[in-house]
Amino acid sequence: MSSATTGLALVTGASSGIGRCYARSLAAAGYNLVITARRGDRLKELAGELVRVHGSSVETFQVDLSSVDGLESVVKRIKEGIPVDFLVHAAGFGTRGHFVDIDEDVVSSMVNLHCLGAASLVRNALPGMIERNRGRIILVSSLAAFLTTAEYSLYSATKAFLNTLAQGLRDELAATEVRVQAVCPGLVKTEFVDSPTFKGFRYEGVPEKYWLAPETVVKESLYRLEHRYRPVLVPTFGARMFLGILNAPLVGALIRGMMGAAGRRRIKAGKPAMF
Ligand SMILES: NC(=O)c1ccc[n+]([C@@H]2O[C@H](COP(=O)([O-])OP(=O)(O)OC[C@H]3O[C@@H](n4cnc5c(N)ncnc54)[C@H](OP(=O)(O)O)[C@@H]3O)[C@@H](O)[C@H]2O)c1
Repeated sequence: MSSATTGLALVTGASSGIGRCYARSLAAAGYNLVITARRGDRLKELAGELVRVHGSSVETFQVDLSSVDGLESVVKRIKEGIPVDFLVHAAGFGTRGHFVDIDEDVVSSMVNLHCLGAASLVRNALPGMIERNRGRIILVSSLAAFLTTAEYSLYSATKAFLNTLAQGLRDELAATEVRVQAVCPGLVKTEFVDSPTFKGFRYEGVPEKYWLAPETVVKESLYRLEHRYRPVLVPTFGARMFLGILNAPLVGALIRGMMGAAGRRRIKAGKPAMF
């Protein structure tokens, strides 16, 4: 990572999984940090580690970013002048189940956290980055942004929002040194799949080789932000190949059509989604 980009990093979702891993990597690269999540004890533990191991300055910010007040409180800190040089929006959660069965408060929490959270944090971090002509933004999206099916429509839609935002911003920021990346991993071994809103996931339906470690995702994401930069990154070669085939003329349409029809047949037969 270039030393020209070090400074202060704001990482959401830092109490666990991918966000915690970004926090560790950015501290190792020399950033000071503001780390946020709802579980303050986890944040304090991580802050202690980062201070001890890397000598970073770390501020913890215990907040529920799916609430309007919570998000406002972080935005206020940015407006008050914390100079965010690196923003990682990793806070997120999954849902499984038909959209019509998902509690309305879970629907609004997800849209608030994934979409409004990203839009507000980016909107407020960008002016300082543009003024200083340096800055990095990572929005943790998902492979699900490209591939949706029954039981994942809400989650996929919120992640597609992040990809579109990153793509448009790349063009808007072309005259600056600020970069935005939406990173789109497949399945990652974190606490994500254990959350109560991700109920009924069939682990045994997914072979071990398809699971990624959070460290793998973060390493590739940070590397590709500086080298062969693209605003939307699928961090594994296998998944990139698969998406390439799905986007190929004729063959891609055929495979997409077959996958969609197979999914609809399962639903008509009263069976759950594939995974
Ligand atoms: N794991 C996967 O298979 C996978 C695949 C593709 C993309 N992703 C994406 O990766 C991101 C990180 O997930 P993960 O896999 O690292 O899962 P994780 O281990 O469960 O971490 C999720 C993080 O988000 C925070 N969070 C959740 N709800 C929040 C809220 N309302 N307010 C503030 N913070 C909140 C959690 O902290 P608290 O609970 O302490 O608030 C935690 O730090 C998510 O955006 C997810 O959609 C995950």
